[in-house]
Amino acid sequence: MMLGLHSILSLLLCIEIVFAKPEGTSLVPREDLLLRSLRPNIAVGPKSLGKPVHSSPSRSKTCIIKSKENGSDDSTAILSAFQQCNNGGHVVFTKGVKYTIGTALDLTFLRHVDVDIQGYVQFTNDTDYWQANAFNHTFQNATTFFQLGGEDVNVFGGGTIDGNGQVWYDLYASNIYILRPILFGTIGLKGGSIADLNLRYSPQWYNLVVNSSDVVFSNITISGGTVNKNPAKNTDGWDTYRSDSIVIQNSNIDNGDDCVSFKPNSTNVIVQNLICNGSHGISVGSLGQYKGETDIVRNIYVYNITMTNSGTAARIKVWPGVSSALSGDLQGGGGLGAVSNVTYERMSIANVDYAIEITQCYGQKNLTLCNQFPSNLTISNISMHDFSGKTSKKYDPIVGTLVCSSPNVCSDIKVSGMNVKSPKGFAQWTCANIDKAGLQGLNCTS
Ligand SMILES: *[C@@H]1O[C@H](CO)[C@@H](O)[C@H](O)[C@H]1NC(C)=O
Ligand SMILES: *[C@@H]1O[C@H](CO)[C@@H](O)[C@H](O)[C@H]1NC(C)=O
Ligand SMILES: *[C@@H]1O[C@H](CO)[C@@H](O)[C@H](O)[C@H]1NC(C)=O
Ligand SMILES: *[C@@H]1O[C@H](CO)[C@@H](O)[C@H](O)[C@H]1NC(C)=O
Ligand SMILES: *[C@@H]1O[C@H](CO)[C@@H](O)[C@H](O)[C@H]1NC(C)=O
Ligand SMILES: *[C@@H]1O[C@H](CO)[C@@H](O)[C@H](O)[C@H]1NC(C)=O
Ligand SMILES: *[C@@H]1O[C@H](CO)[C@@H](O)[C@H](O)[C@H]1NC(C)=O
Ligand SMILES: *[C@@H]1O[C@H](CO)[C@@H](O)[C@H](O)[C@H]1NC(C)=O
Ligand SMILES: *[C@@H]1O[C@H](CO)[C@@H](O)[C@H](O)[C@H]1NC(C)=O
Ligand SMILES: *[C@@H]1O[C@H](CO)[C@@H](O)[C@H](O)[C@H]1NC(C)=O
Ligand SMILES: *[C@@H]1O[C@H](CO)[C@@H](O)[C@H](O)[C@H]1NC(C)=O
Ligand SMILES: *[C@@H]1O[C@H](CO)[C@@H](O)[C@H](O)[C@H]1NC(C)=O
Repeated sequence: MMLGLHSILSLLLCIEIVFAKPEGTSLVPREDLLLRSLRPNIAVGPKSLGKPVHSSPSRSKTCIIKSKENGSDDSTAILSAFQQCNNGGHVVFTKGVKYTIGTALDLTFLRHVDVDIQGYVQFTNDTDYWQANAFNHTFQNATTFFQLGGEDVNVFGGGTIDGNGQVWYDLYASNIYILRPILFGTIGLKGGSIADLNLRYSPQWYNLVVNSSDVVFSNITISGGTVNKNPAKNTDGWDTYRSDSIVIQNSNIDNGDDCVSFKPNSTNVIVQNLICNGSHGISVGSLGQYKGETDIVRNIYVYNITMTNSGTAARIKVWPGVSSALSGDLQGGGGLGAVSNVTYERMSIANVDYAIEITQCYGQKNLTLCNQFPSNLTISNISMHDFSGKTSKKYDPIVGTLVCSSPNVCSDIKVSGMNVKSPKGFAQWTCANIDKAGLQGLNCTS
């Protein structure tokens, strides 16, 4: 066990700071400032939402969380620090200190709080506990280790959050119906930022953003993986759901499923300056999964992405109008809705199977059946331009596929500036049920 200077200081200071500091004081004691990280000043760019980003007043109180540093659950200390520093405080996970979380934490009550994660936070490997107690979010059976929300919350600090994924990858290999928690749940957050963090070994998706607005994610690294033959499956970087005015930028992602995915009712989202490796691309959807539900994805801008070793770069995946099954734990079809005003600009690709994949037959292998029951979810006003690089050999000479389930449900799809070639030097595209006039310079072979 290592006790750094920071943790010794925090042990000495914690009682004084947390209990003796009068509330509402605007002057922050000097010793507190020494233990705090400066809240990063996040500049959104080059693209912006066209409105000022959320800004936060400075925080007065400081709460240093004491870890037991022996692998036992630190949740009680963590929760009490959040309670004491709520309404204008700065919570510190001390640098060089390891924290263990073995209890599902509901942090949706936060108001005006900075969460300064300098240390190393790890969730326990108790898969039975988490399956019974992680937060359920209904959509695609998603569950999260914790839920962070409220109003005006900034998370930063340069530290690491570790989901202890291996036990989950191993368990999933024997049972695909287990509920694997998502590492970081941003649930009902109005205004805030998540920045300068390292996310590691998530059991499932890394970030789920639900019922949130005006939140910026910046300078995040995501990586993890398995040490054996059991893959780390469904490790999406971000999934946005029922959320508006979200920015995801300046981050580095090495994962095994979508780098970013816009799930139902994601509006006004900017994704820019990402380096994605090993993923399935930046994806709209899947949408139209649930019969009777209306899914909207609108006003999305994806800009300046480097995409390597991936299944696709730009993807729109929609379920058809008929019940379909992708796998035992992923089924759907028949939903309503619309994807509109989505732009992908400047994607640099290497070893990517398809530069673009648009499908309205997601989960349905029988194309006759898909065309017989076209999707009830329309795709319109889409622009994909200025892509460069080389695909993988998987579909060589095909470099992309744009297949709607009927020309009536796809309109105004514009593709241009595709400087993309297959390893053999070809650039052929599969195009069906789509207006070819919008596809500038594409060699559609079908
Ligand atoms: C961990 O430390 C705490 C506080 O020092 C102690 O109460 C607990 O018994 C320890 N647990 C283990 C597993 O060592
Ligand atoms: C789970 O974590 C505990 C405590 O760190 C460790 O003793 C145990 O070996 C781990 N179990 C598995 C299956 O990795
Ligand atoms: C979430 O749902 C699962 C499966 O239905 C259930 O076992 C679990 O107890 C639920 N969790 C909570 C916190 O209610
Ligand atoms: C999101 O908000 C809706 C509508 O208020 C609510 O029904 C739902 O439970 C919320 N979802 C989560 C995950 O909090
Ligand atoms: C959710 O879990 C249930 C029970 O394991 C399963 O039947 C269903 O297919 C899952 N739904 C989705 C959308 O994954
Ligand atoms: C990104 O975060 C790391 C800590 O994780 C920090 O060291 C670095 O300075 C940050 N980069 C920028 C550009 O803010
Ligand atoms: C594009 O993103 C990369 C990081 O992947 C960054 O270094 C570069 O400055 C960005 N370019 C523009 C025009 O913003
Ligand atoms: C990128 O992904 C490939 C294939 O998944 C992997 O072999 C490689 O180590 C990854 N590189 C980085 C920098 O993460
Ligand atoms: C998405 O938005 C549509 C249109 O406002 C609404 O009908 C639908 O219920 C919303 N879906 C979810 C999951 O919130
Ligand atoms: C289309 O989306 C962009 C953001 O990507 C936004 O700036 C623009 O206003 C939207 N257009 C309309 C007509 O809403
Ligand atoms: C595909 O669907 C069509 C139309 O419903 C049906 O006639 C055909 O048998 C199906 N093919 C397969 C291989 O299931
Ligand atoms: C959805 O699409 C199917 C098949 O294309 C069609 O039979 C059905 O009437 C549609 N449902 C709605 C509510 O539009």
